[in-house]
Amino acid sequence: MFDDIIVHHGGEMIEVLVTGVTGQDRLYLAEFLLSKGYEVHGLRRQTSTFNTWRIDHIYKDLHDADTLFFLHFGDLTHSEEISTLIYNLRPDEVYHLGAPSQVRISFDNPTYTGDVTGLGTTRLLEAIRRSGFPIKFYQASSSEMFGDVRLPLNEKALFSPRSPYACAKVYAYNMVRKYRDGYGLFGSNGILFNHESPRRGETFVTRKVTRGIANILAKKQKVLYMGNMDASRDWGYAPEFVEVMWKMLQQKKPRDYVIGTGEAHSVKEFIDVAFGYAGLDPKKHIKIDKRYYRPTEVEYLVADVSKAKRELGFEAKIRFNDLVKIMVDADMRAVGLKPVGEGDKVLAKKFPKRWWTVD
Ligand code: NAP
Ligand code: GDD
Repeated sequence: MFDDIIVHHGGEMIEVLVTGVTGQDRLYLAEFLLSKGYEVHGLRRQTSTFNTWRIDHIYKDLHDADTLFFLHFGDLTHSEEISTLIYNLRPDEVYHLGAPSQVRISFDNPTYTGDVTGLGTTRLLEAIRRSGFPIKFYQASSSEMFGDVRLPLNEKALFSPRSPYACAKVYAYNMVRKYRDGYGLFGSNGILFNHESPRRGETFVTRKVTRGIANILAKKQKVLYMGNMDASRDWGYAPEFVEVMWKMLQQKKPRDYVIGTGEAHSVKEFIDVAFGYAGLDPKKHIKIDKRYYRPTEVEYLVADVSKAKRELGFEAKIRFNDLVKIMVDADMRAVGLKPVGEGDKVLAKKFPKRWWTVD
């Protein structure tokens, strides 16, 4: 179905490479870049079964004259594949989003996490440096790098990573800065706080809750087992966050930016608002399973977005209550139920209809 043949459209077309293209952010970013007229190339891992259903709607046959979206097989653990792709493709911009992104699972797979998330970034940076092409580079850095600090966090805050995932991200963040300072690479770190959507992976806490609610309403599930409900996060809406990734690479100089909403809410609050919106009582359905606890937890994260507001004009429009409603509505629709509808109304005012659904 997908090819790894490289087709150059040449001329004025701006070409970008997005590492991985099956994840939440990649999908929104690919759609956003295509809408801007970019030619988008996605890196995907080889799998025995199709895992690309999420991108079917933007994929066209390679032989169509107006195709602007291409997929290439490659793994971030393979230096040769990465450098060959960079060299043959010569993209103008690289958005490096590919990573195993589940913090809890990184405790089970610390070496793999380091290899893909940490060294995978260096493989890309080194391939770009060796190619000699003036490629701009976006690194998907994470608020998880800060660790457990109970203050609004900006670009000057120190990192104190508390998971193998965060340690690998700190390494990658620093390598981007080293290549920027040492080799003049145009590389920017977007230090993004949690961002969610109906397309969020099903095991991250927000989606686990909204999907659980839809299943409870559809009588497919009675109990939802949760971990640490006291943890707080700064949850934003993913489509707004991918647009600012692009903005970072359109600046005159590469810089690092914290992106979030500036508001923190606990997992418990998320559950209460989501269940309340769906007309359910969480006490009847939530149980704690300690297996979802982490050996070391980040209890609280909130962003100070002053720099991004000043330099990129960024301010999150979708806030906590609306985000919860958007996600509950989408998951209700996904199981064939009529959504409550308030989330849909919020989106109708601000975002395209294709972003309402879970795929
Ligand atoms: P996601 O939905 O979990 O997507 C992860 C992607 O990385 C998938 O496409 C996955 O491909 C790919 N990948 C994993 N291992 C790979 C490998 N060895 N080679 C090539 N591709 C590989 O993540 P997301 O939420 O979109 O996040 C995007 C990026 O931003 C990640 O780097 C994440 O760590 C970072 N980030 C996310 C948030 C957030 O709140 N969402 C916040 C800060 C930073 P498969 O489908 O084949 O597994
Ligand atoms: N996943 C999950 N499942 N988390 C739970 C659960 C549960 O059943 N119960 C409570 N939590 C708590 C976690 O312990 C954590 O404190 C919080 O909910 C959020 O967990 P996740 O949604 O898994 O996200 P995360 O904050 O660990 O990581 C996400 O955001 C980072 C940015 O801060 C991921 O997208 C990372 O890739 C990203 O870098």
